[in-house]
Amino acid sequence: MSLPNRAPNDPVLRPHSYDGIQEYDQRLPNWWLFTLYGAIIFAAAYWAYYEWTGHMEPGWVRVNNQIEALSLAALEQGAAPNSTKLWDLSQDPTSVASGEKTFLSNCAACHGIDLKGGIGQDLTDPEWIHGGTPIAIFELITVGVATKGMPTWGPILGQKRIAEVTAFIIAKNSTIEKPAEEEPTAPESSAGP
Ligand code: HEC
Repeated sequence: MSLPNRAPNDPVLRPHSYDGIQEYDQRLPNWWLFTLYGAIIFAAAYWAYYEWTGHMEPGWVRVNNQIEALSLAALEQGAAPNSTKLWDLSQDPTSVASGEKTFLSNCAACHGIDLKGGIGQDLTDPEWIHGGTPIAIFELITVGVATKGMPTWGPILGQKRIAEVTAFIIAKNSTIEKPAEEEPTAPESSAGP
């Protein structure tokens, strides 16, 4: 209950009382109001900056970049596919189909839609300048042959797509042999695939 002769900063009580509970009726402190209005202005400005300037990457782009960086790091640390893994990929229709797409949009111009060659080598025959094992093909595609006009695909495609395109080449080249097991493992049954 406010008294008529109160000083300007005295607490003001609202006139009601519920179950004996009374409420102050105070002006909010300035520091509190600045925080509130400041937060509202900051939110609007941040939203506009984020949405309109294009200076900030959306989360999914950052996540994709991090995944890419991790898989490249894994490649550097020796987690690159070996011949056996690449051969296994060539038996997987989904990977081969992805590899075919990559091939048609990036490689067919030089190596031919049927892989029979053109500016680049025939990839269906048993002759290889740089080696015909799955891992040699994978590494050659990654590194390229700058002096001969074969682009460096590593930074463009990344190891997954290069692995798939290698799988596609293996699937199309009947002369590439299934690699011997790299580690001594339990002997497989003699029935072929
Ligand atoms: C601009 C033309 C061009 C494009 C595009 C191109 N290549 Fe090549 N490629 C070449 C040339 C030229 C060579 C031969 C290099 C040499 O003589 O050493 C070659 C060589 C190769 C070899 C090695 C062949 C061997 O005999 O050892 C492979 C494997 C290969 N390319 C795969 C690919 C794949 C996969 C792509 C697509 C991702 C691709 N190339 C895209 C021009 C190209």
